[in-house]
Amino acid sequence: MIKYDNQRKSFILTGKDFTYALYVNRAGFLQNLYYGAKIADNDVGYLIGHIGNTVSPDPDSINMDMLFDGMPSECGFYGRGDYREPTVLYTRSDGSAMSRFRYLSYRIYCGVPEIKDMPHSRRGGQTLEITLKDDFSPVELVLNYTVWDNLNTLVRNIRIKNTGSETLKINRAFSFCTKLPERNYRIMRLHGNWAKEREVEVTHLGHGITRLQTLRGVSSHQLHPFMGILAENCDEETGECYGVQLVYSGNYALTAEISNNGFLRLQGGINDFNFNWHLVSGEYFETPQAVICYSDEGIGGLSRSFSDFLREQIIAPDKVYARRPIVVNNWEATYFDFDNQKLFNIIGEAAALGIDTFVLDDGWFGKRDGDNSGLGDWYANQNKLKGGLKAVIDRCKHNGLKFGLWFEPEMISEDSDLFRAHPDWAVCKTGTKPARGRNQLVLDMTRSEIVDYIFNAVSKILLENDISYVKWDFNRTLTEFYSQKLPADRQGEFAHRFILGTYKLAERLTTAFPGVFFEGCAGGGGRFDAGVLYYFPQIWTSDDTDGYERTKIQWGTSICYPVSAMSCHVSVCPNHQTQRVTPFNTRGVIASLGATGYEIDLSKISEQEKEQVVKQIADYKKIDELVLKGDLYRLSNPFDDNYFCVMIVGKDKMSAYVAGERFRGDPADRNRILKLNGLAEDKTYIIEELGITASGKALCCAGILFPRLPDYGAWTWHIKAVK
Ligand code: GLA
Repeated sequence: MIKYDNQRKSFILTGKDFTYALYVNRAGFLQNLYYGAKIADNDVGYLIGHIGNTVSPDPDSINMDMLFDGMPSECGFYGRGDYREPTVLYTRSDGSAMSRFRYLSYRIYCGVPEIKDMPHSRRGGQTLEITLKDDFSPVELVLNYTVWDNLNTLVRNIRIKNTGSETLKINRAFSFCTKLPERNYRIMRLHGNWAKEREVEVTHLGHGITRLQTLRGVSSHQLHPFMGILAENCDEETGECYGVQLVYSGNYALTAEISNNGFLRLQGGINDFNFNWHLVSGEYFETPQAVICYSDEGIGGLSRSFSDFLREQIIAPDKVYARRPIVVNNWEATYFDFDNQKLFNIIGEAAALGIDTFVLDDGWFGKRDGDNSGLGDWYANQNKLKGGLKAVIDRCKHNGLKFGLWFEPEMISEDSDLFRAHPDWAVCKTGTKPARGRNQLVLDMTRSEIVDYIFNAVSKILLENDISYVKWDFNRTLTEFYSQKLPADRQGEFAHRFILGTYKLAERLTTAFPGVFFEGCAGGGGRFDAGVLYYFPQIWTSDDTDGYERTKIQWGTSICYPVSAMSCHVSVCPNHQTQRVTPFNTRGVIASLGATGYEIDLSKISEQEKEQVVKQIADYKKIDELVLKGDLYRLSNPFDDNYFCVMIVGKDKMSAYVAGERFRGDPADRNRILKLNGLAEDKTYIIEELGITASGKALCCAGILFPRLPDYGAWTWHIKAVK
């Protein structure tokens, strides 16, 4: 709910459990008033008198060294006494870049802002639109704030309007700026690498600027477009914290700046490094949405709020709660080295084991026998697949399976028909040799004719074949950041235009093929972000499916995403990435905490393992509603404990699922207590596997014993309310 108080010029935004308040001060600057736990809306007004009246009504009489740095501004400006980094920065034709944004008008309406060409929150809610005007040039900023009564997230973005007659060069276009209450904070970031995505790191947040960013052109394996700000006493389930994530998949930056007076300014959006956008007269520039969240139930509360938001607002409504296909994928089973028979062997086993979709991974098209050829040639390799895709699809159908197919749409191999026909379509600075990544180049997605080509090529395959699932990969990051078609003074637009091209393609393909289930992927989890989730309801979490490493990867990923967004598969041992051997059961338990499947040659596993597959799938079907719709509680942290354990609780608190793993034998583990979480205190539950009946309060406060299992042993408990 959003309320405007005309007398105080204040706006009070209330979500499920939080309040965000702002006001226009006497000099016309839009100021943050409060962000934290929910407060009755007529109750924060006194703060305005308390804080705001010290400001002179005349902005030019403000003694700038003393005041602007200390203002809790909702939008930072440049060159007029605020020495923190600005939110928006542009240069005019005379070279001047100073700005000062003051309040012009507001509008409150039901629904979400209309954002074209980029992923965004979809429906409901209420939006506050505040227009600020630059004191020194005809530029207006439209600040959007959307809240929902049933969600704990505030969604923001900024639209920059050029209302004058000259072209502006935008050097920075962040999506939001906010100020958090003064206190000692820690910062949480999710860093990583290929096969080691989203490791959790928490450090003290000191003075100056802490900047999380990527310059790789995609959200990246290395540093996630997420920032957590934790109060000193905040832990997994208690204390206050804030989080920001971006609905954006390209170069991003998130900054936390603590200035001399102890104020913490948070802002971020499109990375401004080498960003330069020409905004011609009469046009506007739209920034991506930032999702900001407050929790007084620790990091777990933050995660549950982000999950609810992503499921309600970002992931496609017709897919988000739909049962996910249980797939077997041939990548680790065969890599590039397959023929009809090898695939038929997997397909032949799959249906009997309960799998419903066979996904044919990389290597089915063009002349693709390794990673240095074929990308861009989206037609079946008839030498490898006798009878083409049809033969494989017919075999699937004959066996009662659906069929899925891998693409890597934005890529091109130099050894491909596409490259021979259009060498200039690859990203390359004319006259230089382009940088290769995984032996491939990237298509220039800023060019509409290239987007059209890929759309047509992929559409043709999807139209001509019975395909129900697409795995959309992206296996290298960007280099050059140069388009042969953009004018010299517009090359600074490349990185953002590239991601807009990708979004356009994803939008067109998912709209043209609503019956196809799309899965995102980028060398494992290198483009796992809210922008991608708008188009693809789930994403391959990591190429690392090791039964131990995956507990950490999935733990870190669950900080900002629902478990249903994570594709989690069982693969063989020794694991291809770590060489570690873990029990088949353990791999199945960890893979049950997401959209489950197999990455394995089913014709080569033992009869006992096949029996386990049958059981794993049957067990998964008992809990897949919880995976899709439930609330996640993280119980034991694999980064600093000998156990990994999480539980998913149904929204109605009638059932829950606990899954855990013990890493190593440790005599000190004897009689260790595991406290459950999220159950209704006054309900009585039975833990089916243990035959224990107790109240939710007892299970959450007194707990139960951790199981003592052999190294890398895993367990599950199914919990049901009995009254
Ligand atoms: C990436 C993906 C894998 C597989 C290969 C194919 O690494 O993460 O799952 O699809 O590409 O080249």
